[in-house]
Amino acid sequence: MSDIRLDGRVAVVTGSGGGIGREYALELASRGAKVVINDLGVSKDGAGVDTSRADGVVKEIKDAGGEAVANYDSVSTMEGGNSIIQTAMDTFGKVDILINNAGFLRDRSFLKMTEEDWDDIIAVHLKGAFCVTQPAVKAMKENNYGRIIFTSSTSGLFGSFGQTNYGAAKMGLVGIMNSLKLEVAKYNIMVNTIAPTAYSRMTEGIIPDSIKDKIKSKFNVPLTVYLCSEENQDTGRIYVMNGGWFDRTAIMAGPGICLGDSERDIPAEEVRDNLENIITMDGAEPLDNGSSIFKYLAPLLS
Ligand code: NAI
Repeated sequence: MSDIRLDGRVAVVTGSGGGIGREYALELASRGAKVVINDLGVSKDGAGVDTSRADGVVKEIKDAGGEAVANYDSVSTMEGGNSIIQTAMDTFGKVDILINNAGFLRDRSFLKMTEEDWDDIIAVHLKGAFCVTQPAVKAMKENNYGRIIFTSSTSGLFGSFGQTNYGAAKMGLVGIMNSLKLEVAKYNIMVNTIAPTAYSRMTEGIIPDSIKDKIKSKFNVPLTVYLCSEENQDTGRIYVMNGGWFDRTAIMAGPGICLGDSERDIPAEEVRDNLENIITMDGAEPLDNGSSIFKYLAPLLS
């Protein structure tokens, strides 16, 4: 088995002052990457600032003989995103790898959700990914190389009680990836989305204590590090992982049925009477090749 090495690569990991991000950063550095440890150092629900979180991980990496630099900007603004990437450029001269990982929770049932809860969660997870990824892509394009990870969640992919704000942001990241992968493929930039699971500060009190040792943050590292490596040539995929179990999750479409003939109006009753054929997932296929809209137009165009 040949080793996956990242010598000479420069990685930016947002929110890597603790939790899962810290584990990514330590592993990337141990494989030779120079790492920007970005962390605003907020509380579990996004309040305050604490630079010691990022500093602590930088020290760990340096103590182990690696190279790292701290950045304390928030991912939630364009100014912050630009500054995070500028830290990589000023210190290490380029950006090869970006893991969008920073975030926090503000869980409330839908009827109790405030505008602030909604905006803050969308800002850190969804807008934050835009704010850091746009300057990163500009830098990656210069070297015709990049590996980008968006961090989604099963809460967005499948749903979770009390997390409409978080779920919307996390599913929105899949939307960014689906289009971005098409725009950056020509620059050898691969964009993938992961949904990790870990007993971390974020999930303390949500995930039962009894299984905390089975879902350590570090169990999310191997697939993520592979996706950040040159060997990974896949783009636009969604991966779910949980305590050493990994899968590919996809948006699927069933075969459907074409009722239209480009002229006649289709009555609602005809849809009702064909519902079985419309909802069937027999022979369903993943739609992740970027030109899937043509699947729907094909029957009309033939
Ligand atoms: P964590 O709370 O341990 O770490 C998140 C880090 O992000 C913290 O160090 C925090 O200070 C930092 N951060 C928060 N807002 C920031 C901002 N505006 N700018 C820069 N840094 C900021 O959480 P954990 O569990 O390590 O989560 C990491 C990522 O994985 C998050 O995106 C989370 O939504 C996602 N995730 C985690 C799951 C889990 O089971 N722990 C499940 C699914 C997704």
